[in-house]
Amino acid sequence: MDNEQICSKILITEEQISEIVKRIGMQINSDYVGEEIVFVSILNGSFMFTADLLKQIKLDCNIDFMQVSTYGSSTNTTGNFVVKKDLSFDVTEKNVIIIEDILDTGYTMKNLIEYFKIKHVKTLRIAALIDKPHRRTEDVKADYVGYTMENDYFIVGYGLDYAQKYRNLPYIGVLSEHLHS
Ligand code: IMP
Ligand code: MG
Repeated sequence: MDNEQICSKILITEEQISEIVKRIGMQINSDYVGEEIVFVSILNGSFMFTADLLKQIKLDCNIDFMQVSTYGSSTNTTGNFVVKKDLSFDVTEKNVIIIEDILDTGYTMKNLIEYFKIKHVKTLRIAALIDKPHRRTEDVKADYVGYTMENDYFIVGYGLDYAQKYRNLPYIGVLSEHLHS
């Protein structure tokens, strides 16, 4: 399918994404002067954001990856959190920054925060490319936010998927109605 048919509108252009990523990179560079950082990228959605953000970092840093699944939400208190791909490095006493694509209900992030607490990290912060605060059911917030969404759009591109598709788009767009099943 042509890229033009996937999205009903472009929400964040390539140029805007580039500005957003530069701004977050600068914030992190100034907040962590003299410190080392371990970035933990949450796969798959944050792979493009991670690659671009790391290019902006001027400090000593390391990158690790996790993949997690969440089933359910706060409306389903039996909701499950499964680590499908775990860390490769020891993060004890490290400055960890979690890189996530979207903070939606916050359920995934709440579980990740609990996971890192028991690892005894030195500091823990969250960088989220997209924040959907109106969707939040858990009491979590990101320290670095790329773009705050007010509307309840389902968005794809720049790593974000719908049924594992459309991650390759270089911009972030609103998924066309006719592609929702
Ligand atoms: P949460 O646990 O409800 O915060 O879920 C966050 C995850 O849901 C994100 O990491 C995304 O993978 C996914 N998600 C939420 N909204 C969207 C969207 O608009 N497009 C694509 N994925 C989304
Ligand atoms: Mg995700």
